[in-house]
Amino acid sequence: TFKAVIFDLDGVITDTAHYHYLAWKRLAEQVGVPFDEVFNERLKGVDRMGSLNLILSQGRFDLTEEEKVALATQKNTHYQELIAEMTPEDLLPGAVQALDEVRQAGLKIGLASVSRNAFTVLSSLGITEKFDYIVDASTIARGKPDPEIFLKAAAELGVTPEECLGVEDAVAGVASIKSAGMYAVGVGDPQVLTQADRVIPGLQDFSIADFLD
Ligand code: G6P
Ligand code: MG
Repeated sequence: TFKAVIFDLDGVITDTAHYHYLAWKRLAEQVGVPFDEVFNERLKGVDRMGSLNLILSQGRFDLTEEEKVALATQKNTHYQELIAEMTPEDLLPGAVQALDEVRQAGLKIGLASVSRNAFTVLSSLGITEKFDYIVDASTIARGKPDPEIFLKAAAELGVTPEECLGVEDAVAGVASIKSAGMYAVGVGDPQVLTQADRVIPGLQDFSIADFLD
């Protein structure tokens, strides 16, 4: 039986996935590589430098590490401008209800986001206190699809991977949950999140009761 639910942030609890998309799109256009929503699916859940490298792999570049860091920083500055005005109104439908329902059912709640802006976003949304444990992305060596971040969350929550439900909107995120040995709830399109054990359109359709017996 499940003892914890570990949520992703961007695209699950709030629509920052769209802001990441806009910020990467601007950068891609600037360096002259094609970029659209389909390609963007590959970036979801992937950390900042990993995402940049995927974009650069679409063109012929010979950049130094320093130049790459400068581009990544540029994207992040734009992203931070986009999220600067976020408030609790930016919570996706059903997000708070889902967190509260999990809490009432007596399960632990974790957050597994590789975003180095996660603490800022959570605080703008006013939901930091709803989590028992939030992984600090700067302490993670390998991003999604590696299982490290979900395994770290489970360990810190004091539960085994089998006792965890992971909730993710990204292909890389679902892969991370599955290779951690957890049950994966995908948020989005079942045609995209093919590795998920179950896919729901959004957290308004999440009910912890469906997973407990
Ligand atoms: C999340 C998003 C990705 C983003 C990554 C790093 O996983 O889904 O799109 O690239 O975080 O975010 P950061 O805020 O650290 O650049
Ligand atoms: Mg996400």
